[in-house]
Amino acid sequence: MSVAQKEFKKITTKSVQEMKMRGEKISMLTAYDFTLAKMVDKAGIDVILVGDSASNVMAGHQTTLPITLNEMIYHASSVVRAIDRALVVVDLPFGTYQGNSKEALSSAIRIMKESGGHSVKLEGGEEIIESIKRIISAGIPVMGHLGLTPQSIYKFGTFTVRAKEEEEAEKLLSDAKALEAAGCFAIVIEKVPAKLAEKVAKSMSIPVIGIGAGGGVDGQVLVLHDMLGMTYEFNPRFLRRYLNLFEDITGAIGQYVDDVKSSNFPNDKEQY
Ligand code: KIV
Repeated sequence: MSVAQKEFKKITTKSVQEMKMRGEKISMLTAYDFTLAKMVDKAGIDVILVGDSASNVMAGHQTTLPITLNEMIYHASSVVRAIDRALVVVDLPFGTYQGNSKEALSSAIRIMKESGGHSVKLEGGEEIIESIKRIISAGIPVMGHLGLTPQSIYKFGTFTVRAKEEEEAEKLLSDAKALEAAGCFAIVIEKVPAKLAEKVAKSMSIPVIGIGAGGGVDGQVLVLHDMLGMTYEFNPRFLRRYLNLFEDITGAIGQYVDDVKSSNFPNDKEQY
């Protein structure tokens, strides 16, 4: 049983901020469906992200761009039905908030109303600050996302480490400050040098949750299917695999196929 499992209290945006204040690291993982979300929640995770990485992991797209608001609502509502404790953050998908702040607010409202999620996450800094402020003014908690922002992959051109140069690092720091000032309750920083991420975390009063951003931040997030080893072609340096489920599951299914073909399944006890 994990340490977190022993203390079964509902996690809120306030509780993650309190975790930062008392120096307790925040644990966050993605989930996109009822069954896995149930396990993630039971294991004591603090925050479940219904990430738009569902576009890659669940639907097999190359990028996160194709996933729709309706699809995100479908995934998020499945996750919400499974959880008792975790805070559920839902990504606003590409094309549903960049246009203007009114559109951003109506997308966020749909997520909250139709999925039952507890907050939304948006990618970007200063350029989307009006949208963030408008969503927050409607009482919807917002998590920011800086560094590598996969919805802008065609602008970056690659998935390599972001903000290695001084200018981009300074922009990231000022964007983080802008998100904090706009009222975000936390931010994710993806794939940036550990020293920079630590500097950002130390200069902010809200939690900074890292992915590929080193250990000096306030919490960590990984894509569930990556850390369980269900995906096998994605091997970035920051990823720790806790299981090798791709092999385990294909092995088990192969065994089932053999058992059916050889009439070893079902046996006498497995029938009426
Ligand atoms: O969509 C996602 O899974 C994410 C994480 C990588 C932070 O945004």
